[in-house]
Amino acid sequence: MLFKSLSEAQSVAVSLVKEELNRIHKRYNLYDKEHLVMSLEHSTFEIMLSNFKELQDIFKHNVLEINNGYTFEHSVKVATMAVFVAIFMGLTKDEIDGICKGCLLHDYGKMFLDYEVIHKNTTLNENDILHLRKHCMMGFNYFINNPDIPIVSKQIILNHHENLDGTGYPRGLTIKSLNFSTQLCSLCDVYDALASDRPYRSAVPSSSAVTMMKKEIGVKFDKSMFLIIMRILCLD
Ligand SMILES: [Fe+2]
Repeated sequence: MLFKSLSEAQSVAVSLVKEELNRIHKRYNLYDKEHLVMSLEHSTFEIMLSNFKELQDIFKHNVLEINNGYTFEHSVKVATMAVFVAIFMGLTKDEIDGICKGCLLHDYGKMFLDYEVIHKNTTLNENDILHLRKHCMMGFNYFINNPDIPIVSKQIILNHHENLDGTGYPRGLTIKSLNFSTQLCSLCDVYDALASDRPYRSAVPSSSAVTMMKKEIGVKFDKSMFLIIMRILCLD
């Protein structure tokens, strides 16, 4: 998918937010929670739209077309899930905006990588993987002096591939250095990547994605945080 204009991208983003909220909505047992879920959906939609508008100048660049639009779609879906959880948990408006912007921009650094590697439809070799891993630091360095991007967003961009046990990248941080916002983005990032169709594999069913992710508890995800976030997204 290639976008002809920013307004087209915005209308696609609106559709993606609605689709993602609809998926969450369907998983909820609404008998006693309808009012709560509707209110969360409404707030999520408003926050997504306002942050997307604030980032318009950034999205004007060819970020929308990274990986033929996949990165943009993925980032909008990750942000929608993360904002829904953040509102549910009662985080402050500033914290939620920081999470939203961080998730929307978490893979922005990919636009500085080699086109051939980003668009490869076959299995990646070791050099490709090492090259792809540079996107965290490249995205972070791009925004480091931008006063319009909150610190929490910059932390998400830099740290969303770090693991609790120090086996992640780019710096091999451990749980002590990873805040809730980063772990929230990381969890939504992994879930959406597994549950989406890719050129080299079909989407994994939601229940299988969750089963695969459970194996990463203690390695990539903190157990209590994993359980709380999955419960809020009705993925447990
Ligand atoms: Fe990433």
